Amino acid sequence: MGFFSDYIPRSGDKLLTKWAHYFEIYERELTRFRARPVTFMEIGVFRGGSLPMWKEFFAPGSTLVFIDIDPDCKAHEIEGTHVEIGSQGDPAFLASLADRYGPFDVILDDGSHLCPHQIASFEALWPHLTDRGVYMVEDCHSSYWPGFGGGYRNEASFIEYSKRLIDRMHSWYTDQDALFPFDDMARHLNSVRFYDSIVVCEKLDKQQPPTSLAIRNGKVEPSRKALTLRNRSSVFANKDGR
Ligand SMILES: C[S@@+](CC[C@H](N)C(=O)[O-])C[C@H]1O[C@@H](n2cnc3c(N)ncnc32)[C@H](O)[C@@H]1O
Repeated sequence: MGFFSDYIPRSGDKLLTKWAHYFEIYERELTRFRARPVTFMEIGVFRGGSLPMWKEFFAPGSTLVFIDIDPDCKAHEIEGTHVEIGSQGDPAFLASLADRYGPFDVILDDGSHLCPHQIASFEALWPHLTDRGVYMVEDCHSSYWPGFGGGYRNEASFIEYSKRLIDRMHSWYTDQDALFPFDDMARHLNSVRFYDSIVVCEKLDKQQPPTSLAIRNGKVEPSRKALTLRNRSSVFANKDGR
């Protein structure tokens, strides 16, 4: 399986707690970030077992920031890492970290797993994610637990929040302006990927609205007619979409 199957048998005495199927998701989502130094933040330190793992995973020279509400977690700081104490539910604390260490290429939320915290952290930190960076939220099964602010189809859960991101990403295309206005998130969100218990949001700072291409005999004709016609009316309104 690559890095993690090699690392796990060599792990040290600090406890690492992850669900077994997460490692394959890390391989798939994070391998592209290993080629050069990156800025990484993990929310949730606990017994400190993830610090040496991420330190070895990412390239030398990376900035590795870990946060936890428990002051005892400061003791888990190792060379080349920064452990900061504060709550992920505190936007001012997160803003101060973004000022000091940001922008971040990868943010991993493995903190309280409370839905209001997951949403508050995402909203505070998403603007501080780099172009093509990824924001991962773990243990999203807590969205199905009322005690964590979730419950089946509870609109306040992080899973339901993430499902709404899909609508927001597509808000270029709406012709239902009153019901579904354009949302600026469409300019910055490239993908929302749902795994079992993990949601990954990938950023892409789009300079232009989506463009359709008509390609024939090696000639490429770009068009945004489908969006601009009828004031960004739905591309699906006309069958030819142009
Ligand atoms: C699941 S553990 C983290 C596990 C660790 N990432 C690992 O891989 O071994 C969750 C951690 O989140 C911390 N936590 C709980 N509430 C928090 C909050 N509001 N802000 C930041 N951290 C919090 C807990 O103190 C705990 O250490």
